[in-house]
Amino acid sequence: MSHQTHHPRRVAVVGAGNVGASFAYGLLLSGLASEIVLIDANHAKAEGEAMDLNHAVPLAHPTRVFAGSYADCAGAAVTVITAGSAQRPGETRLDLVQRNAQIFQQIIPQVVAANPNGLLLIATNPVDVLSYAAWKFSGLPSQRVIGSGTILDTARFRYLLSQRFDVDPRSVHAFIIGEHGDSEVPVWSLANIAGMRLPVYCSSNGFECGLDTLDEIFAQTRDAAYHIIERKGATYYAIATGLVRIVEAILRDQGSVLSVSSLQDDTYGVGDVYFSLPTVLDAAGVNHVIRLDLAEDEIAGLQRSARILRQTIESLKL
Ligand code: 2OP
Repeated sequence: MSHQTHHPRRVAVVGAGNVGASFAYGLLLSGLASEIVLIDANHAKAEGEAMDLNHAVPLAHPTRVFAGSYADCAGAAVTVITAGSAQRPGETRLDLVQRNAQIFQQIIPQVVAANPNGLLLIATNPVDVLSYAAWKFSGLPSQRVIGSGTILDTARFRYLLSQRFDVDPRSVHAFIIGEHGDSEVPVWSLANIAGMRLPVYCSSNGFECGLDTLDEIFAQTRDAAYHIIERKGATYYAIATGLVRIVEAILRDQGSVLSVSSLQDDTYGVGDVYFSLPTVLDAAGVNHVIRLDLAEDEIAGLQRSARILRQTIESLKL
């Protein structure tokens, strides 16, 4: 078997910072990839991470991990982009847009020149705007350019609801849609446990779930990153795990429903924009975006979120 010409299940990671390195670690432990290539402007950092990860291989899964260049994106099923500046305390995700769009203008064409056939998975913030920019800079079909979007917010939401209702978070079915950021929208009208909407679940099972309680759970979901960044300077384990979950759906052609960011048409009145809705993901990328039966206030929230993202895209003058 030649490693040079055949790359079964290669995953490339651009950006070997906290998110990129944590993702590579999670991916190694998952056993999903046969090769993981780490690419970073600071090549020594990528090398150090690759060395450290390789020393875990005998204890985990046979995986070839190495530090490479953009040319090594060739043959990757998925290239995950985590490069760029992260939020500092007090900054919003949208504050990062000019800086990171410039970085993307450099990176994306080099990835696509090496790998015109793979998928791009964007994690850099502001993720919705940068996923749109990556789609434009790449020239790829939008089906193959996906943003991590609200996969993380949805996980935070399910976790917090699970704590409140004392069940496994995997048994809580609820989505955060729209921007991965301050204008995101909780879909309360469809949230359920065992198929029971939350107000019904609460009254039948002896839980209190008044509006104040629910509002507080959503506020904690939306503001989680600020609270973590205040305490430890960055967030990475949960987003890294979300990226592994998305890559699993792609590499295993699962058709999983995940809240990720993709190019949206104007079903909700604002088109030509990336934001998150529950989306069926398989080996080809976005199979389709699920049309939700939303409540009126949720539609209004989603339209507001989409308008904010569309305006930010326009400010970039792509
Ligand atoms: C997060 O939500 C900062 O977007 C990152 O953790």
